[in-house]
Amino acid sequence: MARNFRIAPSILSANFARLGEEVDNVLRAGADIVHFDVMDNHYVPNLTIGPLVCEALKKHGVTAPIDVHLMVKPVDRIIPDFAKAGATYITFHPEASEHVDRTIALIRECGCKPGLVFNPATPLDVLEYTLDKLDMVLLMSVNPGFGGQKFIPYVLDKARRVRQMIDARGLNVSLEIDGGVGPANIRDVAQAGVDTFVAGSAVFGAAKDSDPNRYDTVIGALRAELARA
Ligand code: DX5
Ligand code: ZN
Repeated sequence: MARNFRIAPSILSANFARLGEEVDNVLRAGADIVHFDVMDNHYVPNLTIGPLVCEALKKHGVTAPIDVHLMVKPVDRIIPDFAKAGATYITFHPEASEHVDRTIALIRECGCKPGLVFNPATPLDVLEYTLDKLDMVLLMSVNPGFGGQKFIPYVLDKARRVRQMIDARGLNVSLEIDGGVGPANIRDVAQAGVDTFVAGSAVFGAAKDSDPNRYDTVIGALRAELARA
């Protein structure tokens, strides 16, 4: 498959006490994008990190794209803060915004790349009027809120449908998947049309802190599977 595949480790499963070093290490091992999970204990039942941490990673020297996945409600207030903090992509869940078109436009006006995120059971209807305004569609293959959950297989059908929509309209929109992805299933996911793969526990859980090549093996395994897709 000629698609340009990108691996996006989710820092949700990183060691937060050494976050800069963790991000440096996954990027050195061949990751392409930093997936940044923002949770508010309201839209999802968990609480994580905000713009200050994004800014700290940029100041630390991270130049790879930062893929900010907003699991927050409301959405709009926090978007300019993430733009200032150095976000590249900002994705949000359509049901968390009262005015989806306005939120997409706001992300664009702030100089970031907008994306919509669909929970496993959320229908794709909203893409009919938004797909051509997006840089990314993110399909959740677990229910949002926690790392380390099991991949929900029916999302593969959804991925095939979104890939068809993107290709039928000749658009250059990334199709990303998030949740339960690892070496055992990444090839199936790629074959369903996905080009960008979030992996949290599979990457950060795969290595011991004492291993000097901590992330090379797992990212190499993901790449090897993608090469066979
Ligand atoms: C879940 C987050 C994911 C999560 C993925 O709400 O959006 O990015 O960290 O973790 P794994 O890869 O462990 O399923
Ligand atoms: Zn995520």
